[in-house]
Amino acid sequence: MRPYIIANWKMNGLMDALGEGWAIDDAAAANANVDVAICPPATLIAAMADILSTAKAGAQDCHHAASGAHTGCLAADMLAEADAQLVIVGHSERRQDQHESSALVAQKAIAAQNAAMEAILCIGEPLEIRDAGQAEEYVTAQLGDSLVGNIDPAKLTIAYEPIWAIGTGRVASESDIAAMHSACRKKLFERFGDAGASVRLLYGGSVKGENAGNILGINDVNGALVGGASLKAQTFIPIITAAAAKA
Ligand code: PGA
Repeated sequence: MRPYIIANWKMNGLMDALGEGWAIDDAAAANANVDVAICPPATLIAAMADILSTAKAGAQDCHHAASGAHTGCLAADMLAEADAQLVIVGHSERRQDQHESSALVAQKAIAAQNAAMEAILCIGEPLEIRDAGQAEEYVTAQLGDSLVGNIDPAKLTIAYEPIWAIGTGRVASESDIAAMHSACRKKLFERFGDAGASVRLLYGGSVKGENAGNILGINDVNGALVGGASLKAQTFIPIITAAAAKA
């Protein structure tokens, strides 16, 4: 499977950050065996898509409805028109801050796919669940609940991000990542049959140039969703090259 390295800029970046996009795009072109995407704030998607020639531009969220009275929200068609090719749905920051349920996340994934974009669907457990030894059970149930409805596995990527590893500098152990990804793969087979084999499973949570090689070498880790280290080309490009070396 081609590795997939996705930058999630979260609520960071004004127009002057587009220069980072240029540099990242050059690295994407130089490492053609890796798929690279940048998800900037929605205000930058169209401008980012304009300057990218190899990497894809994406969005960080979409509304589940096609249109309507939803002040401040963006429909999937609007993001596609801005040239987004992918949408992150169900990031833990949205599940927590915006109280998004797995049922809603599934509807968002369907909305993104209906607008001809890929859905990057995030799952992950809080620390208390990990400490209670219930992480696999929790995450695979969350995955199943987030895949309800008419979801196309051909336009789907899953990102496993333990909440306690996001932005903390703390990374899950290689054996924990391997066990979780294998449990998620099994769930994908249950849900999609043979098509579950080709859904990419990314890891996210404090991925950096220094640890990317080890993480991307774990069985069933098909890429990374990167926050902090993706904001600068200088810290993001080593993750792309680490993926290229493993591909
Ligand atoms: P991080 O964020 O790389 O800063 O931990 C990852 C994410 O939230 O997608």
